[in-house]
Amino acid sequence: MLTERKKELIEKIPKAENHIHIEGSIPWELALRLAEKNKVSLPVHSIEEIDSWAHGLIGERGLDGFMICDRTLNSVCLHEEDYEAVVLALAEEDKRQNIVYQELHLDYPLNEERGIPLEVVMEGYRSAQRKARELYGVEIVYIAGLDRTLSGERCLSFVKSLRPYLDMVAGLGMDCEEKGHPCIKHLDSYQEAKRMGLFLTAHAGEDGGSDNIWDALRKLNVQRIDHGCRAAEDPELIRYLKERDILCAMCPVSNVYSGAAASFEAHPFLTLLRAGVPVSISSDDPPYTNSLTEELMTDAEKMNLTEEEIIRVVRNGFAYSIQGQGYLPAFDAWVREFQRKGAD
Ligand code: ADE
Ligand code: ZN
Repeated sequence: MLTERKKELIEKIPKAENHIHIEGSIPWELALRLAEKNKVSLPVHSIEEIDSWAHGLIGERGLDGFMICDRTLNSVCLHEEDYEAVVLALAEEDKRQNIVYQELHLDYPLNEERGIPLEVVMEGYRSAQRKARELYGVEIVYIAGLDRTLSGERCLSFVKSLRPYLDMVAGLGMDCEEKGHPCIKHLDSYQEAKRMGLFLTAHAGEDGGSDNIWDALRKLNVQRIDHGCRAAEDPELIRYLKERDILCAMCPVSNVYSGAAASFEAHPFLTLLRAGVPVSISSDDPPYTNSLTEELMTDAEKMNLTEEEIIRVVRNGFAYSIQGQGYLPAFDAWVREFQRKGAD
C-alpha cells in the first residue's frame, strides 16, 4: 500500500510526460463519438467491447496486437477538427493531472494509409497545440513518429514533408511493431532529421533486443531511448546510457500489459534507476494502460519507490525533455515546499 503522503505527492506534483502516442490515446468514448459522426464502421461499439477486444488481442499477440487496436481506433479521425479534438481532450486531462508539459508522438503514416492529407492532420494538431496552452496552460511538443514497418524511402519522404511544420514538431521518433523491423532500416530518415535540427529518439528494446538499442544509439545517434527494457540485460549498455546521460522514457504498465515485461517485479525500471541511468515514467497509450498519475501510483507501489525516487523520476521528465527545462525552478520550489511541510 502507498502511504497517504506518497499518494498526495504523486497526485499534486507538477508533471511532464515524455512518451505518449496521440493515436493510442484517443479516449474511447471520443473514438466512439467520432466513429458515429464520421460514419466509420468499427468492430466494437461500446467501451466494454473495446476493453475486452483490446485485452484479447494484446493478450494473444502483445505489441503486434496492440498495433491492430491502435490502427483500428485511429481510423475514426478524418477531419482537421477530429485531430484537434483528440489533442484537446488530452490537454484537458493533463490539466486535471497537473501535467504542464507533454511530448506527444504523432504517427502521420497511420493516417496516410487511409488517404488523409498531411495538412489536415498537422493543422488540427497545430491548432490544438495553441488552444492547449490558451485553455489549459499545457505546453504540447510534438515528436513525429516513423512507422518502422514502412519502407526506408517512405519514411524518408515523411521526414522531408515535415519542413513546413518545424515550428510545431521538435523531434523525430520511431515506433510500431519492433520485431523484424530493426532501427537501422531508417538511418536515412534520422540523418535527414538531424540536418533539420530535430531531437532524435526511438522506441527500442521494447519487444526487440538490446542490439536494437545499440543500433539506435550508435548508428542513428538518438538522444533518448523510448522503453529500453532490454537495456537492463546488458551491463555495458547500462554503463553507456549512464555515462552519456541518455534518458530511457519508460512505460512499465504498458510493458506489463503488452508482455514486453513479464511482471512489475521483473520490470527493468528499478535496475536502470538504481544503476544511475536517467529514467522517466510515461503512460504510452492511456486508455489502454492508465493515466500518468495512475501509472506513477502503480509503479511506486509495485516497485516500492522511495519518496526521493518518485521525485527524481518526475523531475527527469522535465530535465531530460526536449524543451521543458524552464519548468524546473518552479518544480524544485514546489518540491522544497512539499518537503518542508513533511518536516513540520
Ligand atoms: N505506438 C503506440 N504505442 C506504442 C508502443 N508501446 N510501442 C510501439 N509503438 C507504439
Ligand atoms: Zn510508445
